[in-house]
Amino acid sequence: MHFKSYVTAALYGLPALAQAVPSPSSSRASAPSPSAASSNDHFKSYTIKAENITAKLIPYGARLTSLTVPDRDGNVQDVVVGYDDPIEYLHDSETNRTFFGAVVGRYANRIKNGTFTVDGKTYHVPENEHDGVDTLHGGFIGYDMRNWTVTAHSESAITFSLLDQGFENFPGDVITHATYSVSTETSPENPKGLPQLTTKLVALALTEKTPIMLANHIYWNLNAFKDSNVLKDTLQLPLSKRYIAGDSILIPNGTISDVDDTYSGSLDFTSPKTIGKDIEKTTGLCGAGCNGYDTCFLVDRPTSNAPDSMITAVRASSDSTGISLDVATNQAAVQIYTCSGQNGSIATKKSQARRNEENGGDAGATTINKYGCFVIETEDWIDGINNPEWGRVPYQVAGPDDGPVVNWATYQFGTI
Ligand SMILES: *[C@@H]1O[C@H](CO)[C@@H](O)[C@H](O)[C@H]1NC(C)=O
Ligand SMILES: *[C@@H]1O[C@H](CO)[C@@H](O)[C@H](O)[C@H]1NC(C)=O
Ligand SMILES: *[C@@H]1O[C@H](CO)[C@@H](O)[C@H](O)[C@H]1NC(C)=O
Ligand SMILES: *[C@@H]1O[C@H](CO)[C@@H](O)[C@H](O)[C@H]1NC(C)=O
Ligand SMILES: *[C@@H]1O[C@H](CO)[C@@H](O)[C@H](O)[C@H]1NC(C)=O
Ligand SMILES: *[C@@H]1O[C@H](CO)[C@@H](O)[C@H](O)[C@H]1NC(C)=O
Repeated sequence: MHFKSYVTAALYGLPALAQAVPSPSSSRASAPSPSAASSNDHFKSYTIKAENITAKLIPYGARLTSLTVPDRDGNVQDVVVGYDDPIEYLHDSETNRTFFGAVVGRYANRIKNGTFTVDGKTYHVPENEHDGVDTLHGGFIGYDMRNWTVTAHSESAITFSLLDQGFENFPGDVITHATYSVSTETSPENPKGLPQLTTKLVALALTEKTPIMLANHIYWNLNAFKDSNVLKDTLQLPLSKRYIAGDSILIPNGTISDVDDTYSGSLDFTSPKTIGKDIEKTTGLCGAGCNGYDTCFLVDRPTSNAPDSMITAVRASSDSTGISLDVATNQAAVQIYTCSGQNGSIATKKSQARRNEENGGDAGATTINKYGCFVIETEDWIDGINNPEWGRVPYQVAGPDDGPVVNWATYQFGTI
């Protein structure tokens, strides 16, 4: 294997981190350390660009805050949900905690009872959801709320690094590099040279065996809020005939279900269909009495493909803008959340409304409504650490003897 490159990855960025990371004892407290970079830096907006694609990111949460690509008329549109003013993300963490655009970790999605066992030893991490019943996205202070350090930045790429020294009671130290890059270069994977965002989340367990499952938590709206929701937008999950069934609070109940056997086939996106087509048949799927998708779909590759090979797992598009998105991933599952929890209490970006008006239309939706967006989290089988019979533990637990845990995804934009 590529041992040399693992070492390079482990050491990469350490000099910069050494200056920015508080000492081990103070890093466990939430108070910012005096040695940490000044607070303005955590919300500084960094831009990366290539022809026809521009991304903006901030260190707080290693977060994507804006991504612009051309629509079918050649007008530039922002297709990710969030805030114009980066400081709003801090307020969001303190109130709604939407995870807009962030990297989530150390372990994405839910951990049943905040408990897991590694090599016979049981660990307990803080349960930050449902009044202490389970852990969501890494606990009370997940990676989405951490101040990552910029360890590399060029015109078209940026890397954020985070040294997690037992944060939230997870075992041992983990270093993660989150690299975002944009490109329109033609390649075998991108023969038309379409605008493409690539994300690489590379994590190394440095001292102890620990669960690691990272994910991007980007909220998409391909209609650029020209419509009041995304129900008319099209989604396809070509490889997802199965999904992980959950209980009334979305904890996996141990059953892997077929998309066409449950909820009257509403989970069947193997052929393209609008997000709204069957959404009324999903009652209970996103929790007791809840309509909408908040579901971990399995990405079943053809047997000729390696289990961690890059493959297109999600296709989506909007008729209103003509913007299409193809997501390829090396992960074994994809969580799709259709923003059932939004209710119009959060405003859309003013920059978005302005763009819609400049393009000769009305402002579009000025609030993020129910079903006003969707999240794509490429990741492994959720709560695999508590369901060892699924065989996912080797993909989700890593120690100092193991290579990096890599979540690699490409987001390719075109027009229909
Ligand atoms: C990140 O930085 C902000 C602003 O300086 C601060 O309020 C917040 O507590 C920091 N987060 C953590 C986890 O230290
Ligand atoms: C960039 O987008 C414009 C407008 O859609 C298009 O005409 C042009 O061909 C694109 N450039 C590249 C390199 O694809
Ligand atoms: C969510 O954010 C909005 C906008 O900042 C705010 O008005 C609302 O009170 C927040 N919700 C909660 C539950 O705090
Ligand atoms: C749930 O976690 C608690 C610790 O908070 C532990 O005592 C209990 O055994 C756990 N229950 C299960 C079913 O794992
Ligand atoms: C889990 O939920 C699915 C879908 O609702 C259901 O078909 C299955 O029987 C449940 N499994 C268990 C063990 O409760
Ligand atoms: C909208 O959702 C927020 C956050 O969950 C909640 O505080 C607020 O009461 C809700 N508003 C309405 C009108 O339901």
